[in-house]
Amino acid sequence: MSTHKAKSAGHHGGHDDMAGHDHNAHMGHAHAGHHVMVHAPAADVAEAYRKAYEHAQPEPGGAVVPVELEAREADWQITAGRTARAWTFNGQVPGPVIEARVGDVLEVRLTNHLSEPTTLHWHGIRLPAPMDGTDMVQHPVEPGAVFVYRIKLLDAGTFWYHSHSNEPVQVRRGMYGALVVRGEHEPVLDRERVLVLSDATVEPTGELSPDNDRQGLDGNVRLVNGVAEPEVMVAGGQVERWRVINASSARYVKLSIDGRAFVTLGTGGGLLEAALTVHDALLPPGDRIDIAVGPFEPGETVPVLSAPYDRGFGSGESERFAMVRVAPRADSQAVFPQQLRVIEPLVTGPLTPTREVRLGERAGAHGEVDYLINETQHLRGEDVVVGELQVWDIVNTSALDHPFHLHGFFFQVVERDGVAPAFRSWEDTVNVPAGGRVRIAWMPDDRPGEWMYHCHILEHHAAGMMAHFRVVRGASDHEPSQVSPHVQVHNEVAR
Ligand code: C2O
Ligand code: CU
Repeated sequence: MSTHKAKSAGHHGGHDDMAGHDHNAHMGHAHAGHHVMVHAPAADVAEAYRKAYEHAQPEPGGAVVPVELEAREADWQITAGRTARAWTFNGQVPGPVIEARVGDVLEVRLTNHLSEPTTLHWHGIRLPAPMDGTDMVQHPVEPGAVFVYRIKLLDAGTFWYHSHSNEPVQVRRGMYGALVVRGEHEPVLDRERVLVLSDATVEPTGELSPDNDRQGLDGNVRLVNGVAEPEVMVAGGQVERWRVINASSARYVKLSIDGRAFVTLGTGGGLLEAALTVHDALLPPGDRIDIAVGPFEPGETVPVLSAPYDRGFGSGESERFAMVRVAPRADSQAVFPQQLRVIEPLVTGPLTPTREVRLGERAGAHGEVDYLINETQHLRGEDVVVGELQVWDIVNTSALDHPFHLHGFFFQVVERDGVAPAFRSWEDTVNVPAGGRVRIAWMPDDRPGEWMYHCHILEHHAAGMMAHFRVVRGASDHEPSQVSPHVQVHNEVAR
């Protein structure tokens, strides 16, 4: 395939382009030779929002967790002596870590002090469509305006939030943060950390690159919690829980602690069934992993790396994200059971897929690469009916890996290239390797509205490797789904 780097063709919205970059996403598109896809909410959006707002009430014993987020420009110290102008939440990159418990209601008041509209997406959270933060369910939050997201938290896990407007610019410039939801039975370790991995393209002047490449290239600075290759002080003899989020626009991270064993506790949709010892873990953009790390010996220094991985550009070298420095020994209280929870299989037995999602590419008109979904850009996918089991084959016909993300619903991976995965998990993001095929299953529960799925390489998403679709309630004349008796369906996601 071509590795030509091209600046994307801008489809400008109605607002000023103050930062001098392209607004190539989400303000309405008319691609030559394609139908027009308008990304805009339906007229009854206000009423749907009001209902979702009122419906969000905490469980008995739960709380309303108020959060103020201000989208605004601020100076961001990426490395010592280098300050860039970033787009932030509350003046920091990443934005504040939001912490809550299952059964709480998050009430986030977003004020937009930027010069362009924005929205906020709650990546991985099962929420009603009007709170999903896309331009199909809300009007963008204009400069100077305020929008309140009110969301009841149903699931424990490591999630994140990020801008869902003009993403290749807004997210690359810093508009992302972690959201940690704790459940009742969490593994107890000696210490917990949230590590938001990302990267940035910093120019020699210290400023962030205004280039908005279409292909999705790695940045030249690797960041943990907004700092380039920081040191992490860990006490000797202790075992820590790390919640790791890959918030990069395009960078794949094959997480390695210098090749040492670590334990996977959970993935994007919360805890696994059983703790799993591994030596590395692939985190495509958008994905998360919870791991138990350590113990280390006092005095050690151990790099936290992204090991070589070929996503279509060659495999390169190990790249460092952070350095663990091990402090004197401290007592360890870390205990976690081998069995973490039970995840019922969503499906068993032979399956017929209900949808094929094809991720592809072709040479574009100006020598650049077009990123396609089912041979088009900005697809309007078929409706999905509440209660009807979905079995989707995600097929990658391109020469690059693509991370597939489904909004608002967890899925289970059923097969990768025909092979059942080694363990069961809930996910919202899965890597589909170049030339590969991943089969997923998910159950649309009763949350009708506009949803979407897309490649989580933000440049590909913006360039059209995405689909809108609706979840609809079955009409009374609708045939009930032909779920075979062998197919077990579990609507409730285990807490
Ligand atoms: Cu984290 Cu539509 O994405
Ligand atoms: Cu992609």
